[in-house]
Amino acid sequence: MNIHKIAVIPGDGIGKEVIAEGVKVINKASALDGGFKFEFTYFPWGCEYFKKTGKMMAEDGIEQLSKFDAIFLGAVGAPGVPDNISLWDLLLVIRKSFDQYVNLRPIKLLKGAPAILKNVSEEDINMVFVRENTEGEYAGSGSWMYKGKPNEVVIQNSVFSRHGCERVIRYAYELAKSENKTLTSISKANALNYSMVFWDQIFKEVGREYPEVKTFSYLVDAASMFMVKDPKRFEIVVTSNLFGDILTDLGAAISGGMGLAAGANINPERKFPSMFEPIHGSAPDIAGLGKANPLATVWSASQMFDFFGYSEWGKRLIGYIENILTDKKVLTPDLGGTATTSEVGDEIIRKMQLDFK
Ligand code: NAD
Ligand code: IPM
Ligand code: MN
Repeated sequence: MNIHKIAVIPGDGIGKEVIAEGVKVINKASALDGGFKFEFTYFPWGCEYFKKTGKMMAEDGIEQLSKFDAIFLGAVGAPGVPDNISLWDLLLVIRKSFDQYVNLRPIKLLKGAPAILKNVSEEDINMVFVRENTEGEYAGSGSWMYKGKPNEVVIQNSVFSRHGCERVIRYAYELAKSENKTLTSISKANALNYSMVFWDQIFKEVGREYPEVKTFSYLVDAASMFMVKDPKRFEIVVTSNLFGDILTDLGAAISGGMGLAAGANINPERKFPSMFEPIHGSAPDIAGLGKANPLATVWSASQMFDFFGYSEWGKRLIGYIENILTDKKVLTPDLGGTATTSEVGDEIIRKMQLDFK
């Protein structure tokens, strides 16, 4: 029996509610399969922990997490704790410390998901974003001078290293090649005259190693327009940290909403644990009300199955999500239903059980 040790960080707000359903589904899959087991260890880190201790995670948190095979995270952020502290000291420090330089975000209109774009069907929205996840606009380099004075100045630097750009772009080429798909790079070299000129250059350089991959290159402003007007032109997409952050929320909007947007923070070399988490945040507006849609988290669990080589289970979970969406009987309010977060989780369990009867 293969045992995988998973560190669970439910975090804040709806993070706790959706993770509970994700864990429930993974446990059920282990029980039905019998060939593997996921062992969960919970960490109470997040904004409540911060309010008690002044820290977002234990002092040796990264060292503790490094002993696990993967991390399953809900969401981070709560009113009363500045977002730049809560996110930098927990989520972003994990992505960076564990060199999770690939943020894989599928933007796919599943069967039965609400399509907000006119005349668009499932075949038209089926892309995977490969978002750079450790540097770029999120490098955290800068300064704040003369704070609070009339001559106050802030500087926020972007850092684009050759190593950092090459590796994520190469990952995207490999993915496009293995799936026989096109690869689109999204940048902004007309205005960002160092960073994005460099990005575009590296996209071309690495591309010489992949003559079989058909490529496109768009400016980010035009790309956002095309994602809405003509999403089928995107298959595999590679882009910088900030552009990837913004465009994947747009992607969520056109493929069923934040409740259906999944992500995986991958360290491809597997030297460090990778982290699986929905794209959405802690949603303070609905936290604690049982209204959060857990399907994005279940989809991230499906990515975790793929990562550990259980792609059968990865596919199956997507199938259950599609069943839920096409049945339209047990849906949370964001998808027009009245079911609670845990009722959606229970419905998936029920479908799993039926499948294995
Ligand atoms: P958000 O993603 O939390 O919420 C945006 C909107 O989408 C809200 O109306 C919310 O109710 C809705 N929504 C999100 N997920 C949903 C779900 N699963 N089911 C139903 N509706 C859902 O973004 P925000 O409001 O900008 O941020 C709230 C907090 O979360 C902030 O502190 C922010 O910094 C943090 N945040 C954390 C993460 C993360 O941990 N990965 C991601 C984004 C934002
Ligand atoms: C995401 C989130 C994070 C990001 C925030 C919370 C720092 O928006 O995972 O999309 O910008 O990466
Ligand atoms: Mn985001």
